[in-house]
Amino acid sequence: MSSESQLNIFGQTVASSDSASTLAGNFDLIPTINSIPIPPGTYSSISQLATHCQVCHRCELGKTRTNAVVGRGNEQAPILIIGEGPGQNEDEQGLPFVGRSGQLLEKILAAVKLSIEQDIYICNVVRCRPPENRVPTPAEVAACKPYLLEQIRLVNPKIILLTGATAVRAITGKKDGITKIRGTWIEWEGRWCMPIFHPAYLLRNPAPDVGKPKWLMWQDIQAVRAKLDEHRA
Ligand code: URA
Repeated sequence: MSSESQLNIFGQTVASSDSASTLAGNFDLIPTINSIPIPPGTYSSISQLATHCQVCHRCELGKTRTNAVVGRGNEQAPILIIGEGPGQNEDEQGLPFVGRSGQLLEKILAAVKLSIEQDIYICNVVRCRPPENRVPTPAEVAACKPYLLEQIRLVNPKIILLTGATAVRAITGKKDGITKIRGTWIEWEGRWCMPIFHPAYLLRNPAPDVGKPKWLMWQDIQAVRAKLDEHRA
């Protein structure tokens, strides 16, 4: 859709041919309903994108959220981690992975000397909390995906970690079970993606024995550290 036809939805036209920057800068024309696409390049910063997310109603989750949860960490990080969606703590604080899952994730990262402040940017497939922490629907995922793609473009990470099946499906389209594909590298849009277990799954399966989920996660996170070192070398 051209910039003019997008903006005509609001009965307005633009002189500029640069639809992306026009949409991001003009708060009467924000693409926060589902009928307005968000073309790649719409946002020039994460904070601009975050401002739109706070007033977004591209799906029903906008009706029940307390805060849209956009992301946290280093906006120029080499590693981006994608979770499923905010839980109660995240919805209240407006930040991803600040509850028990997040605490475990930070510990796992620290074990290979990675910190969210320095090495990681973290976000979710959907920016608003699904009620009762249910899995987001395909329509909710599709409505929020342009924001996710814009965040990936802006952060420009070399490595993306997909925590759990929802993140894997949203990015790669793969429907394989996480147990089958975790720990494998998938090349996507010039980036290295690895599906890993969601930390909430590890909280439910805490046994550290060889071959168990926690042990497998330890193998995966070491492979991530090695890939980062290789990329930096
Ligand atoms: N689980 C997620 O997938 N994301 C969060 O932000 C918190 C818990």
